[in-house]
Amino acid sequence: MLAVPAQELTGELPDPPDFAAQSEPIFVSISDIMEYRALPEYHEPDWVTSKYVEAGTLPPVAERLPKEPLVYKAANMPDGLGVYGDTMRHVIGGRPEGWNYIGGQSQGWGGIDIGMSECLTRTGPLFTIKADELEPMPNLARSWEWSEDGKELTMHLIEGAKWSDGDPFDSEDVMFFWNDNVLDPNVSPLNGATPESFGAGTTLEAIDAYTIKWTFQQAFPTQYLYTMAYGTFCPGPSHILKPAHPNYSDNTYDQYKNAFPPEYMNIPVMGAWVPVEYRPDDIIVLRRNPYYWKVDEAGHQLPYLDEMHYRLSTWADRDVQAVAGSGDFSNLEQAESYVEALRRSADDNAPARLQFGARTIGYALQMNFSANGWGQPDDRAQAVRELNRNLDFRKAVTIALDRQRLGESLVRGPFTAIYPGGLYAGTAYYDKASTVYYPYNLDAAKTLLDGLGLVDTDGNGVRNFPAGTAGGRDVEITVLANSDYGTDTNLAEGVIAQMEQLGIRVIANFQQGTARDNMSTSGQFDWQVVRQTAEMVSIVQNTAALAPTGPRVHSFHRANSDGALDLLPFEEELVTLVNKFVSTSDNAERAEIMKDYQRIFTENIYSVGLTQYPGALIINKRFANIPAGAPIFMFNWAEDNIIRERVFVPADAQGNHELHPQTLPGAPGGAGPV
Ligand code: GLA
Repeated sequence: MLAVPAQELTGELPDPPDFAAQSEPIFVSISDIMEYRALPEYHEPDWVTSKYVEAGTLPPVAERLPKEPLVYKAANMPDGLGVYGDTMRHVIGGRPEGWNYIGGQSQGWGGIDIGMSECLTRTGPLFTIKADELEPMPNLARSWEWSEDGKELTMHLIEGAKWSDGDPFDSEDVMFFWNDNVLDPNVSPLNGATPESFGAGTTLEAIDAYTIKWTFQQAFPTQYLYTMAYGTFCPGPSHILKPAHPNYSDNTYDQYKNAFPPEYMNIPVMGAWVPVEYRPDDIIVLRRNPYYWKVDEAGHQLPYLDEMHYRLSTWADRDVQAVAGSGDFSNLEQAESYVEALRRSADDNAPARLQFGARTIGYALQMNFSANGWGQPDDRAQAVRELNRNLDFRKAVTIALDRQRLGESLVRGPFTAIYPGGLYAGTAYYDKASTVYYPYNLDAAKTLLDGLGLVDTDGNGVRNFPAGTAGGRDVEITVLANSDYGTDTNLAEGVIAQMEQLGIRVIANFQQGTARDNMSTSGQFDWQVVRQTAEMVSIVQNTAALAPTGPRVHSFHRANSDGALDLLPFEEELVTLVNKFVSTSDNAERAEIMKDYQRIFTENIYSVGLTQYPGALIINKRFANIPAGAPIFMFNWAEDNIIRERVFVPADAQGNHELHPQTLPGAPGGAGPV
């Protein structure tokens, strides 16, 4: 019997403090931004022509481009056509595992992989698309059509485009990605593409070199066009990767994943820049891709920027350097540094501009819901998972958290808002009336735990499991968090301190990014504090991950090694809703579905919301063509949103930052630039 009636635990959710975004996007149609078209003539930096083309080591630019390149229209460029030269100096807190993105390796984040990868469709820039025309932009897939019954989708790939080493890009690259990486259960591509990400039973086949055909179980699942964008459908260079894959070699899966370590230079890409230099804990340098397949309206091959730097430092240093002008770019997202960053960039002579957007950064405490053996828990961890699956337990944890205090411990002022969990207040599908909020109430939390038989039997201040469960020992729960980010560990420490009041001992398991990601995706955690991904912000990006719609798509509830999930009844409802959402494109119906989703999610405290706040884009003032109102995070991160291949530095503002001026990437696996 519950000692506290449920309705008394819920309460009025305070509205988030007003915080106006500092700039608004200009809303346009996709066709205002780009088209595919052959132009009468093409251009490239003079030094590429004189040093490479005229020397006979590189074909003329017109021969390197596809038949009809992707053309960015000048009228949509905030500062018009650009000029070549200069560098964007990024600073990142991650470290590269290697270059095998589709084999599951991280390149260190912060925009490296975003700049190297091109995907079938593109969604980052959609923040600037008119709401009633919202759909993914064509990219590697230049057009597509649906069969009459809506179950088949035929896509046309750009024709005649090449990888950065000159090898043709075609459907073989797409099919290698799909067959040997997504469908192969031994491979886990970075960013989590699985077969179910595209709908259970979906198949893909190549019709010819430039045509592919999807077959779906449902009619018109246009939603999957979003899944075909970053980071879930970005093929790798099959001519390089395939020979290392176990299906085509004697390699093990581990050897495949690790076959292209960070020292391997000039890995072929379809993106605008190719890695040419790597110095551990120092820097990664990328140079322009001479085969890049996008141009401006005057026929200048993109990118305008010749070089990209990624200083291997910390994420907090990214903010500091961007504000100081020794770095060029930051997604200001760690609330602890907001006050200082704002103060310094308010100066008229500040080298960088700083612009806040909507509240799209949010943190949640996620509990491991798999009681099925995922991650091989011992008896203590198994007992914790049983608790995690108990609604009274989740209620107790939620109401024992003082969210106001948690937010203010990061930064004071109007930034942070109480986050009850589920969809963010600033997103299109949010409905306050469908959001169930459980306010802070420590006494009621204690009563709930007493009711669950979790009492301190040995008088040491920590509650014990009931006799017969996990040896009746202290209730100890580990919390996994990413130590690359102060915000992640600060929030986790806040949770630890507040749980102590409740008599639960939470133990920090703070791991560096890659190790954290590996523990998380292999189910080795009791709880985790996470900065949430695009599904909670955009709903239409990463939608399959809104519920355990497949064995490996959800972040805190996955199948065991037999592929079996153990969904709770309310999770089944969420899965049904998410599948319904995917199978309709009727906006009114979608809004209703998401109201139900939000109510069931928050009523059941599927994850424990912590805080949500806005982020700010910091970019050095010398860069041009930065679109107004670019959010640091929405469908994707700002590194994609601002269309970096179109960004340039006016000639009179160019700095002397290039480390390898007038060079191009060398041969794959060879030494650096040539
Ligand atoms: C990291 C950073 C983000 C963004 C992404 C890009 O997660 O914290 O701000 O740069 O990388 O992948």
